[in-house]
Amino acid sequence: MTTTARFVPVSKLPEVGTTIFSVMSALAAEKKAVNLGQGFPDFACDPALPAMVTQAMTDGYNQYPPMAGLPQLREQIAAKIKTIYGHQYDANAEVTVTAGATQAIMTILLACVHPGDEVIVIEPAYDSYVPSIRLAGGIPVFVSMELDERGYHIPWDRLKASISDKTRLIMLNSPHNPTGTILAPADIAALTDIVRDTQVLIASDEVYEHMVFDGQRHESLACYPELAERSFIISSFGKTYHVTGWKVGYVTAPAALMTEFRKVHQFNVFTVNTPMQLGLAQYMSNPAPYLDLPTYYQRKRDLFRDGLQGSRLRLLPCAGTYFQSVDYSAVSALSELEFARWLTTEIGVAAIPVSAFYQQSRESGIVRFCFAKQDATLQEALSRLQKL
Ligand SMILES: Cc1ncc(COP(=O)(O)O)c(C=O)c1O
Repeated sequence: MTTTARFVPVSKLPEVGTTIFSVMSALAAEKKAVNLGQGFPDFACDPALPAMVTQAMTDGYNQYPPMAGLPQLREQIAAKIKTIYGHQYDANAEVTVTAGATQAIMTILLACVHPGDEVIVIEPAYDSYVPSIRLAGGIPVFVSMELDERGYHIPWDRLKASISDKTRLIMLNSPHNPTGTILAPADIAALTDIVRDTQVLIASDEVYEHMVFDGQRHESLACYPELAERSFIISSFGKTYHVTGWKVGYVTAPAALMTEFRKVHQFNVFTVNTPMQLGLAQYMSNPAPYLDLPTYYQRKRDLFRDGLQGSRLRLLPCAGTYFQSVDYSAVSALSELEFARWLTTEIGVAAIPVSAFYQQSRESGIVRFCFAKQDATLQEALSRLQKL
């Protein structure tokens, strides 16, 4: 029994309820549906990684690490970025280990956005961006991606038109959740033109950086000095190493930006747990796990896509991430939320409505599946979806 509410704070986020991910996961469990909704792997990580973390704990690495993260891990991160994107960050001043990407994003916004500042959000968007902007006192300004036969893409002319003298920051995400779109060199050129001669900062959410398919390259903003000098770049070990529950990630930025980031970081999280940082530092010295990730997930993507070929679900392009979106308009006229519920309840496969990634409900007849699952899980889901 709950206590009668006598003290009710004025909500800072009145519009926020339970996330769609929790709602669909609960429904999937209740209906015994295959859960392709929430984005997390249902398979184990490489056992070498928890063994390294366990060893670090046993060896007594259980006290506060330095505020910015263990130097060994920051050095590994800087070395990786230098090798694959060609940009040298100073591991001391320009790399910080965070409690996952979500904390990194919140901390960037708290550090940079002042009340009344505008932040450009490209929709559909990962669900933490807008509440984090609002908590910082910022005003989200929305630009919707366009959808045509090539899939989703960013309308740069509209993004340019939405920049004002109050714009503090642009939130970017590539590879993009939920659409699976990746930034192409032409996008980078358009972005560079837009921000040149402005003070606008960029937060580039690159948590799926190692999941880019078909031989394409991830266009990290770290590859582009003119953008890197005004950018925070965010990544997540949870995604890369199949350990989403660990909530360890990192952010890189030029020293002047990182100084402000750390002022907030030291008070909203201070440090990230030591043994995991040590284990990750050791594990990261071998590049194979992240270099092999595109092949690993591309095979799962293709298994899932091939399995859906005979159904009436229309596959949208998927150039990156572990998400596959489908257009179900040939199957049903239900709203995306109703269709996702129906799919979970009647067909036995949970998905996420793409409308959940917009602030204003927007119906496109599209739901998102997560294919970061064991082959057997995907096969089971396919055997049910093939009826459609
Ligand atoms: C685009 C995007 N950014 C950030 C995150 C959160 O990452 P983390 O679990 O490291 O906080 C996710 C997780 O789903 C995501 O999809």
